[in-house]
Amino acid sequence: MNLNWIAPAKRLSALPPYVFARLDELKTRAREQGLDLIDLGMGNPDGSAPAPVIEAAIAALQNPANHGYPPFEGTASFRQAITSWYRRRYDVDLDPDSEALPLLGSKEGLTHLALAYVDPGDLVLVPSPAYPAHFRGPLIAGATVHSLILKPENDWLIDLGAIPDEVAERAKILYFNYPSNPTTATAPREFFEEIVAFARRYSILLVHDLCYAELAFDGYQPTSLLEIPGGKEIGVEFHTLSKTYNMAGWRVGFVVGNPRIIQGLRTLKTNLDYGIFAALQTAAETALQLPDIYLNEVQSRYRRRRDFLIQGLAQLGWDIPKSKATMYLWVPCPPGENSTDFALNVLQKTGVVVTPGNAFGSGGEGYVRVSLIVECDRLGEVLSRFKQAGIRYQAEAIVAGSD
Ligand SMILES: Cc1ncc(COP(=O)(O)O)c(C=O)c1O
Repeated sequence: MNLNWIAPAKRLSALPPYVFARLDELKTRAREQGLDLIDLGMGNPDGSAPAPVIEAAIAALQNPANHGYPPFEGTASFRQAITSWYRRRYDVDLDPDSEALPLLGSKEGLTHLALAYVDPGDLVLVPSPAYPAHFRGPLIAGATVHSLILKPENDWLIDLGAIPDEVAERAKILYFNYPSNPTTATAPREFFEEIVAFARRYSILLVHDLCYAELAFDGYQPTSLLEIPGGKEIGVEFHTLSKTYNMAGWRVGFVVGNPRIIQGLRTLKTNLDYGIFAALQTAAETALQLPDIYLNEVQSRYRRRRDFLIQGLAQLGWDIPKSKATMYLWVPCPPGENSTDFALNVLQKTGVVVTPGNAFGSGGEGYVRVSLIVECDRLGEVLSRFKQAGIRYQAEAIVAGSD
């Protein structure tokens, strides 16, 4: 039977092409050939969740009460753990019933928020480069996405002054994310004050993704939108347990902030899902209550890898500033190579997988993102393969890829 008449909904064709497709194909081929791939492509932390979290999950699994449908709005005790964490971490008071909502990972919530708040044709402001859910969610909802191109000369901060008045007046939502994936940039508190003033002036809903809240180094403390006076009146903030606690596969995140905005998302989700398995919510509470020593270990692991790779890449001609946060390096391609070509070239010649910057939007062209998700001995192997294959950064000449 000819099934050509079953066409996917138009909203799917609004999505930009999947840059990872060719990379995936090459990865599979390389694996089939027995190549020892070093995959620094995804932001998928290595290692397992902390032992006390696993123990809490096992104990919670033994309790039959946890095996039914969980409450739509998340368990009361997980919501309480979220708000206690906020008070401890940011000195911000939140109501666990109306101002905190557990999510099946923050990607789910970031995407569904657009479905809850965007009508076809609404204008949504999204930085470029950005974590893909920030623009793919609005596109699925039928939004017109206005890209705010980020530039290195502006420290990868959004240039709010460059947004035309008529665009700001039409905009319904602004997504943003500092510390940033993929640029690793951090934003000073004054930037948060400016963006809150901007959103209030134009009545724009602010969506801040604080996914890398805890992966910060050298004494740097990321800022919460909710710490800023007026932030909670116009915005929400997303968090995940995926990165800090090595729990990416568990699918646990949460959103906090303005109760009206959260209510819209809750209403949508009530119609879509039943929330997180209750046993995992119990384990997630344990994660949020872990002593600081655990965090210190995670931070020093990523800091060690960051320093090691920056130093090694410096010997190959790269001058990469030390990021104050996240689990990535944002690496410029050798002059003359675009990000897809460079990533494919690196993969073919060295078996190392990096993500082309244009996967994060056109503003990421000219860069690749490297995830710090293997130990320094493997990063050392990356560097020696680069050296052997002649992959290096030269200010004038294109060296990488030339045979
Ligand atoms: C900025 C940002 N937000 C959200 C996510 C998604 O996290 P989660 O596992 O909670 O869906 C990621 C994952 O890489 C991310 O980098």
